Amino acid sequence: MKEKKRRSKAWFSREGKDGFIYRAWMKNQGIPHDMFDGRPVIGICNTWSELTPCNAHFRDLAESVKKGVLQAGGFPVEFPVMSLGETLIKPTAMLYRNLASMDVEESIRANPLDGVVLLCGCDKTTPSLLMGACSVDIPTIVVSGGPMLKGHWRGTDIGTSDVWRFDAAFKLGEITEEEFIDAEACMARTQGNCAVMGTASTMATMIEALGMSLPDNATIPAADSRRKVLAQLSGRRIVEMVEGDLKPSDILTRQAFENAIMVNAAVGGSTNFVIHLLAIAGRIGVDLTIEDFDKLSHNIPLLANVQPSGQYYVEDLYYAGGIPAVVNELRDFLHLSTKTVNGLSIGINSEKASIYDINIIASVDKPIKPESGIAVLKGNLAPEGAVIKPSAASPHLMKHRGKAVVFQTIEDYHSRIDLPDLNVDENSVLVLKNVGPKGYPGMAEVGNMALPKKILEKGVTDMVRISDGRMSGTGFGTVILHVSPEAAAGGPLAYVKDGDYISVNVADRSIVLEVSDEELDRRRENMPLINLAIKRGYVGLYVTHVEQAHLGADFDFLKGGSGSAVPRDSH
Ligand code: FES
Repeated sequence: MKEKKRRSKAWFSREGKDGFIYRAWMKNQGIPHDMFDGRPVIGICNTWSELTPCNAHFRDLAESVKKGVLQAGGFPVEFPVMSLGETLIKPTAMLYRNLASMDVEESIRANPLDGVVLLCGCDKTTPSLLMGACSVDIPTIVVSGGPMLKGHWRGTDIGTSDVWRFDAAFKLGEITEEEFIDAEACMARTQGNCAVMGTASTMATMIEALGMSLPDNATIPAADSRRKVLAQLSGRRIVEMVEGDLKPSDILTRQAFENAIMVNAAVGGSTNFVIHLLAIAGRIGVDLTIEDFDKLSHNIPLLANVQPSGQYYVEDLYYAGGIPAVVNELRDFLHLSTKTVNGLSIGINSEKASIYDINIIASVDKPIKPESGIAVLKGNLAPEGAVIKPSAASPHLMKHRGKAVVFQTIEDYHSRIDLPDLNVDENSVLVLKNVGPKGYPGMAEVGNMALPKKILEKGVTDMVRISDGRMSGTGFGTVILHVSPEAAAGGPLAYVKDGDYISVNVADRSIVLEVSDEELDRRRENMPLINLAIKRGYVGLYVTHVEQAHLGADFDFLKGGSGSAVPRDSH
């Protein structure tokens, strides 16, 4: 085993005035002197917040982690970091992902920590914490908060993906306002993150497939006592990881990223996965490109029958065998020797896993759908790429040609989408500009624009929609996202006009604006881009430094890491 001098000794093992200061103030919390004997100090990085309801049970979870750390002879210290609640934060939680990652990175490096447990849940709390931890690279283990139990409403199971259905039904007068409000409490009825394979569970699955958590981390429901057991065992394990100096860079190899891409495809994970995995790879120094997502996932079938790509809930996925069963079924595709936080390979961790319900986890031979993963489309409308999730799209729209109906901003969309005289039919292509990283700013989750009321009234439930924004992982439809470069950065999307023909062919991976290069050049000279002159504060920093979606939308100055060296003393 590798041994490394513990960082915490630079604080707590010091003699004289400095050691006095470092220890004395900690003792005001009732910590006995023998806790400063050189044992591993484990940070528990907590995203608990009542403003992040999906993580509201994390103080409890942290107590379970602490028990485990103490049992293994470590010294647990819990600390808060910026928490990003998907439902409340305006203008979008994604605007703050990079800020939160900076908080995590600097909080870990600045403090006497030898290892860290990341408590992650609601969507952005996972990538931001892992990005920050990768840039320090001390032993790290993730404990996710787990999914909610599925909701029940008037005899049916419901989850977050139903929000869009309720909205459409309410718009059409199929349900009353009272029923709509009643459904709210029935859907989010327990602690935990969204009950479907939205971005939070996609991120938790990514963590498990990367090897950054113990097995089953992704799917044990938040309300299940086994979630606390997993937290406690993770607390024990991080102490061993510090003793063995097992760091993220030992686990997060190129092969681990490839596994994550393939497992994400098999569970029908969110399109947000692309942007977050690229950013994490950038921090740990693994060369990953947007093309890798298509290349590695195009032949992976959809195995998990979980919404929004399938029928069931993440809770059901756990009962059917969880991610280890999915991994075991994918043995012929994956790199089975990649190491995980428990010191064993992903192959060994999953070799005894069984599928208990073939309706929920299908076999490779008889998958839920043959197509899964993320398709990356390219063409003159998206020279650096755009993404679509075929498993959540309508087969009849995977090859489509239609006239553009263009919205300059999301406000423009809201003000006109239901106007009776809007020139739109079910063959139109809805185009939304200026919702990308710089343009919104923060790359809003608005790409799955609701259809115009007059189209819904015809019984049409899907249309081709194109934007430089993102879509909620719980969303669905033939939605083309992350168009890069974005409109606000001068990408061709900025120059699409009403009535232009757009052709999409997912099988060919193409997205074409049927406008000549000469005409596009003319438009470039005459159509000004939106004004990005935000000078002040964090948003100014964001707009200046955020990279485009196909690179992961991290800040250009945050790529890589600054390591774990103990910073200089100030007293
Ligand atoms: Fe928090 Fe879905 S809103 S996980």
